Amino acid sequence: MMEEKGRENGVAAMKACYRRFDPAAYLQYNYTPPRADFTRKDSIVPWKLACLHRAFTEGDMSGELLVDIGSGPTLYQVMSGCEVFSKVLLTDFLEVNRQELRRWLQDEGQCSLDWTPYLQHVCKLEGRRPSAWTEKAAKLRQVVADILPIDVHCSQPLAPDALPSAGADCLVSCFCLESVSPDLAAFTRALGHIGKLLRPGGHLMLIGALGESYYLAGPGVKIPVVPLNEAQVCTSLKESGYTLIRLEVYTLTQDMRVGVDDVTGVFFAKAKKD
Ligand SMILES: C[S@@+](CC[C@H](N)C(=O)[O-])C[C@H]1O[C@@H](n2cnc3c(N)ncnc32)[C@H](O)[C@@H]1O
Repeated sequence: MMEEKGRENGVAAMKACYRRFDPAAYLQYNYTPPRADFTRKDSIVPWKLACLHRAFTEGDMSGELLVDIGSGPTLYQVMSGCEVFSKVLLTDFLEVNRQELRRWLQDEGQCSLDWTPYLQHVCKLEGRRPSAWTEKAAKLRQVVADILPIDVHCSQPLAPDALPSAGADCLVSCFCLESVSPDLAAFTRALGHIGKLLRPGGHLMLIGALGESYYLAGPGVKIPVVPLNEAQVCTSLKESGYTLIRLEVYTLTQDMRVGVDDVTGVFFAKAKKD
């Protein structure tokens, strides 16, 4: 009973931190150069896009439905998957983030970030001309079927009728679970909760921060993060009913440490639900 109360308090404190999340500032901190410098192979964003491109195109994916868990205000994480899956659902806990995504999908301007260089870069990875980015943008707008509220701390993170009863064919989740959980146990529980959304044999692509204890989600908005190491990621995946296919690690160069967090590395895990 006491233990349960403690858990609830930890989760509630994390949710309170997110009241001040500023999508425009978050995008500026993490999704502009040097972290998103497409002229450099050692920049974080091109590394993430290359991992996602490889994982989605190596021929072991099947099915129709891809769900992105904790999308935030970003779209890069579904730019490869939108060519493989015919239906994509974006999800986030915060209405401000869902609104930011809606603005891009409805193509009405006033987006906080221009996703064009991202679309161009993924086209290049796919062996297409960078100018094919307009087709990719149209494809992405066509396959995103909805933007839903989610809470990974609930044993049922989405509304009951949000997914077909068999579950999604694939999940992608980037920098969400470790940055919304009060501790490693909550991170592992959240991994189990999202696993319920995935059909057996379906894939999970998990990207996250290593060694991070906080990040800034706006000026003066410091959000605590569970500092993870590679071994903990592997153990949590196993405990939550996934078989690891591959784990890749990126170590931040000195110039990627721009003062908006204390992250030391990024992991990319591709796993399969047992
Ligand atoms: C660090 S951001 C990651 C955003 C994006 N996926 C990316 O790759 O940059 C963490 C996201 O988790 C969302 N979030 C906060 N609490 C959550 C919860 N309980 N369940 C699901 N998502 C949550 C936040 O709104 C935020 O968009």
